Formats: sequence, C-alpha cells, structure tokens
Amino acid sequence: MKQTEYIYLTPMPVRIWHWLNAFGIVTLIITGINIRFPDILNIFGTYKAAIRLHNTAGVVVSISYTLWLIYYLFIAGTLAKLYIPTFNDIKTGIIRQVFFYFFQYFKGGPNPHHGTPDNKFNPMQKAAYLVIMLVLLPLVIFSGALLMYVAPLREVILVVGGIKTLVGAHFLIACCFCAFLFVHIYLATLGHTPLAYFKPMWDGWEKVEHAHADPHGDSHGTVHDEASDRNRVAGSPATMKTV
Ligand code: HEM
Repeated sequence: MKQTEYIYLTPMPVRIWHWLNAFGIVTLIITGINIRFPDILNIFGTYKAAIRLHNTAGVVVSISYTLWLIYYLFIAGTLAKLYIPTFNDIKTGIIRQVFFYFFQYFKGGPNPHHGTPDNKFNPMQKAAYLVIMLVLLPLVIFSGALLMYVAPLREVILVVGGIKTLVGAHFLIACCFCAFLFVHIYLATLGHTPLAYFKPMWDGWEKVEHAHADPHGDSHGTVHDEASDRNRVAGSPATMKTV
C-alpha cells in the first residue's frame, strides 16, 4: 500500500524571493543582451529604455537578495546548514549525485538524496547554490552598482582594475548566470514528475510517497524508504502531513 506524506520544504519568504529574483534575473539577461548587442536584439524601443529597465531590475534583485540574506541568516538561521556542503558532500556526495544525474536517472535508478527541511539540497545543489548565492550574485550586484554610478564611484572602479575590467567581469558573471539558468531549470524538471520540484517552490510542500506492506501501518513488514525515516526524525508535526 502506498502512503503519501507532504513535507513543508520551502517557507513563503523564500518562495516570494525566488520568483521575484528569477523574474529580475531574466529581465536583466534580456535587457543586458539588448544593451551589449543592440544590433542583435532591440526590443525596448530605445537604448535608454533598455538601460533604465536593466537598472530597475538590478535594484529589485539587489533589494530582494538583501532580504533573502537577512531571512536565512537572522530569521531562519539555516544559511550555513543548508548551503555549505559538508566534508562528506565534497568527498563522495557530489560525485554520487553527478553519477545519478548522468547515468542512473536514465536507467530509472533512485535519487541518492531525499530532501528534508534540515537538509533540502543534494550535495550538487549545495555547491552550485553556494557559488551562485554567496559569490556570483554579490559580485554581479557590486559590479552593477559601480557601473550605475561610474562618476561618483570612479576611485573604487580604479581600485578594481578600471572600467574595462569592470565591464568585462560584469559580462562574464552574466554569462555564468545564463549557463546556470539552463542547467538549473533542466535539473529542476528531473523529479518523479517534471513538475515535482516546482510544487514546493510554489506552495511550500513536497510530496513523498513510500510503499507500506502492512495496511495498518504496523512496523513489522513495513517497507520504509530511507527518506521516510529521515523525514520522521527531521520533520516536526508542523513541517509534515500524511495523506
Ligand atoms: C525562470 C527561472 C527559474 C526557474 C524556473 C527556477 C526553478 C526552481 C525550482 C523548481 C526550484 C526548486 C528545486 C530546487 O531546489 O532545485 C528552485 C530553487 C532554487 N532556485 Fe531557482 N529557478 C529559476 C531561477 C533562479 C535564479 C535566477 C536563481 C539565482 C540567481 C535561482 C536560485 C535558486 C535557489 C537558491 C533555489 C533554492 C531555494 C531555497 O529553497 O532556499 N533560481 N528554482
């Protein structure tokens, strides 16, 4: 018999941040292409309009990033726990997860990672999100802010290598975001259904199914999957519901 559990994986502030941020980054990429390659893409009427929209999206992404950081650092207090890979993640976890995505997934093998509120990212996600959220996003925000205020911040621009270096670095980081987006969206569709990982990003709850041999839920003869056991330990009643 199959039992379905729901784990509360993604709190509302994170969901609001994520979709605002995704919308902002996509806007930045499109307007950025318009600004960098106006002969290839020119869809915002004037060049000035593309710059204005790019700057506005940059401000929105910067503010929402600051709120995200405050939330994870001071309200949830889970930034380090969720986003920093452990020694085992680096030693074996990342390789195991890469092996799953490149080979085992296509043979119908099980995902070696099962998300819990305390450990919701697999080792590959942890490493990727750490670089994106704590290195590349702050860098793109910093370089973008310098480019928005070239005249008043010219001393700082000289310290970081001059305007050419700054423009080159900003463009290179933007390319990393484009590459991340493709991989991120592709991997996000590899749940047990293509939209399974989108659900917790929309309503907070992830669906977990496990097979029970005994319909009365007696522990004798019950077929647990490992995820179920871990969720029972990690999930408080407020973070789990059973259907
Ligand atoms: C249209 C664009 C995007 C889509 C469709 C999308 C989709 C998703 C989905 C389905 C998840 C949940 C599954 C998972 O954890 O991997 C997720 C989580 C996440 N995404 Fe995205 N994403 C987009 C853009 C972005 C961008 C631009 C960034 C960062 C710059 C980003 C950063 C993250 C992070 C950090 C998480 C984990 C959030 C948390 O639970 O703390 N995403 N995304």
